[in-house]
Amino acid sequence: MCGIFGIIGSKRNELGGILLKGIKRLEYRGYDSVGMAALDNGAIDVKKAAGKVDEVNKQLNFPKLIGNAGLAHSRWATCGGVTDNNAHPHQSCDKMITIVHNGIIDNFEELKQDLVKKGHKFSSETDSEVIAHYFEEKLASKSMREICVDFLREIKGTFAVLILKKDEDRIYALRRDSPLVLGICNDKNILASDIYAFSDLTNKAIFFENDEFAIVEKEKYGFFNKEGKEILKTIQEFKWEQEESEKKKYKHYMIKEIKEEPAVVKRLLFSLKTEQKDHFKKFIDLIKKSKKIVFTAAGTSYHASLLGVYYLHKCGIEAQTLIASEFRHFASVDKDTLVIAITQSGETMDVIDALKYVKEKDGKIASIVNVPYSTIQRMSKISLNILAGQEICVAATKSFVNQVTLLLAIAKEFGFKINLDNLPERIYGMLKSEEKISKLAKEIHRKRDIYVLGRGLSYPVAREVALKIKEISYIHAEGMMGGELKHGTIALIEDGTPVISLISNKDYDMLSNTKEVEARGARIIKITNEFDGDIKINTSNDGKFGILAAIFGQLLTYYIALEKGLPIDKPRNLAKSVTVK
Ligand code: F6R
Repeated sequence: MCGIFGIIGSKRNELGGILLKGIKRLEYRGYDSVGMAALDNGAIDVKKAAGKVDEVNKQLNFPKLIGNAGLAHSRWATCGGVTDNNAHPHQSCDKMITIVHNGIIDNFEELKQDLVKKGHKFSSETDSEVIAHYFEEKLASKSMREICVDFLREIKGTFAVLILKKDEDRIYALRRDSPLVLGICNDKNILASDIYAFSDLTNKAIFFENDEFAIVEKEKYGFFNKEGKEILKTIQEFKWEQEESEKKKYKHYMIKEIKEEPAVVKRLLFSLKTEQKDHFKKFIDLIKKSKKIVFTAAGTSYHASLLGVYYLHKCGIEAQTLIASEFRHFASVDKDTLVIAITQSGETMDVIDALKYVKEKDGKIASIVNVPYSTIQRMSKISLNILAGQEICVAATKSFVNQVTLLLAIAKEFGFKINLDNLPERIYGMLKSEEKISKLAKEIHRKRDIYVLGRGLSYPVAREVALKIKEISYIHAEGMMGGELKHGTIALIEDGTPVISLISNKDYDMLSNTKEVEARGARIIKITNEFDGDIKINTSNDGKFGILAAIFGQLLTYYIALEKGLPIDKPRNLAKSVTVK
């Protein structure tokens, strides 16, 4: 995780403002601490502290930083606690080298021991600081370019690193596995974790591949491979839909993004008939041609993939899904296997790792992605965009809805019966239950545990609802198969324990499971389209039920968290893009 941003060629007085804007756009990658470095006439000024960007900016006034080059970093702590000292940038003992880093240096303990023996003094507990001392140590006998080659050979782990050397007007940038992209402007160049960070300044970008480095100046740049040989790279012109990312009248991005769901579903469905039509057809053909279909994903996207498996099975297509972080251990892949990655960010390290395994085994890769030009999209033979637009709240809401909508559109091509045209209207109808759901939230917001039960299509939704409740409203929640409850978990049901039961159509087995917990004193919250319940879902279609029940869970989560006064858009310990294993 962590967001990194660097600029060379800015006007002196504009540097701090540009760094601040850039790092705000990357804050979704981590918000434990933030820091910046400004290079001005051979002097480097570093300001950094623990806290979110806005909080720290109030304290340190980043726009006051002046210079022609600078670095910025927003941290999601991996190695070393959330402290001012552990915030990036980090510097060498002589302050000649200043770095920001996203990733994990696996062999940092050995490197550090060696550097300490040579007299280096460390001022943080991070693995990243070792990079600054590593360069400082080697500078006695080598050029920066030579040290970059050594770095790619000797460093184990993952990294996107930006480096400033005090007496040079250039930024050194190195990448392995953590995302890094160069944004090319006429009079300046920018380096960042994603293109969104500079999409207001340029639409020209060069993506770093693994084990490449670049030396970037104001009006020129050079890319090099791990042997240090200069390489030619292609400039990609990208289109970034400029979306209003303001919260406008909403208190939080989470509720704003939930309310956008009818519109983003409409946009996706339209694009499948227009600009994504050919791609969509090719995607379907690829599924038809493949002997084996395996989805892979993490978190919420994994729950969407479980629904995908369910829908495909309903129309006779054999498919399975595997959590990305366990993919290598449980998947068998060969050249006839099509692996479909589902990911909002397109950068989740576990998913990237699963896809690397697919490549090793000669399997084919397709993906369903929200963030265009992301690493996973670029790794795929074919990729569809879910077009949910930028999702700022850490919790996935509208992106989940569009992932599932796209999976339904795919299943429909194989015979799944569904009218998707009225889905936006149905979602709109579901959003009208907001008041009822907020009352429910008031009733249960102090509970310690919540259980969510589902069967068949409502099982993945039960897991998704539970995940939302955990991450945003900090209540322990378990989403499970209704049938599995009696095999152990039922022992935890006490008088008044909330149990949310998702009952689609005439699922009498699910109804029996609900009664079993009710008989043991649970406070049942029935979400159903068929029976009497707390929330009525207005559809008889299994596909739409899944989406609408998930939206119930999103609203319930939001209102519980609101009642508890929690930091809804930036929950503790989390980040939007999970780029570590
Ligand atoms: C939950 C959530 C996470 C992500 C997971 C995968 O609300 O957002 O569980 O779903 O980290 O992320 P992507 O979809 O970007 O691969």
